[in-house]
Amino acid sequence: MKPPRFITFEGIDGSGKSTQARRFAHHLRGKGHEVVLTREPGGSPGAEEIRQLVLTGDPDRWSAETEILLFTASRRDHLEKTIEPSLAAGKIVISDRFADSTRIYQGATRGDLRNMVDQLHTLMIKREPDLTFIIDMDPATALERGLARKSGEDRFEDFGLPFQETLRHGFLALAHAHPNRCVLIDGNRTEDQIASEIAAHA
Ligand code: ADP
Ligand code: TYD
Repeated sequence: MKPPRFITFEGIDGSGKSTQARRFAHHLRGKGHEVVLTREPGGSPGAEEIRQLVLTGDPDRWSAETEILLFTASRRDHLEKTIEPSLAAGKIVISDRFADSTRIYQGATRGDLRNMVDQLHTLMIKREPDLTFIIDMDPATALERGLARKSGEDRFEDFGLPFQETLRHGFLALAHAHPNRCVLIDGNRTEDQIASEIAAHA
């Protein structure tokens, strides 16, 4: 089997994705790989500008449909400018969130817009990761952790706990629907425990 080269981390807000993505990148670099650690929304200059539009301001600032277009636009730029060139240069790419986030956040929380998300993905993005870690954890604890950061980018955290519960179930269903690329990780443990389980996948 070829080693995974495009790897993503997914899960609800505050579940520990960024922490584990960073640690996994460090682990792979220690094994001699060149690793690009990136994130969504963002990961390229243009996509980082779109990030500001979608993550700040009033929770009702955008309709779900407009959000799908903005996230897809930012992903397309990220793919063109960062992901594809890095993979072509032989590097491993680790992204903190990717298309699964749109499938769940925009596709499954405000009506059933999943079909629209999937159609846009097919048209504009096409690519799937080789390996996706879905960090599952208790939404109340995750929300506390996320809001404690006071990042100023809390538009989605501001939708509240029931929203995070819906997201959690969406991610669990996604992990079950794509067992070939998704690995479900129990996030209700220490950082070290989680990191060593993830490290065993490379
Ligand atoms: P995400 O990227 O999923 O929002 P982060 O990695 O930024 O999550 O983690 C959110 C907060 O929780 C951070 O302050 C981080 O230090 C802390 N954290 C991450 N993993 C754990 C863990 N396993 N146990 C306790 N706190 C954690
Ligand atoms: P992120 O910075 O990873 O937030 P957190 O650290 O709280 O998990 O992601 C920003 C927010 O954007 C997060 O609340 C999820 C949301 N998001 C979407 O709604 N759709 C998407 O396609 C992506 C990539 C993110």
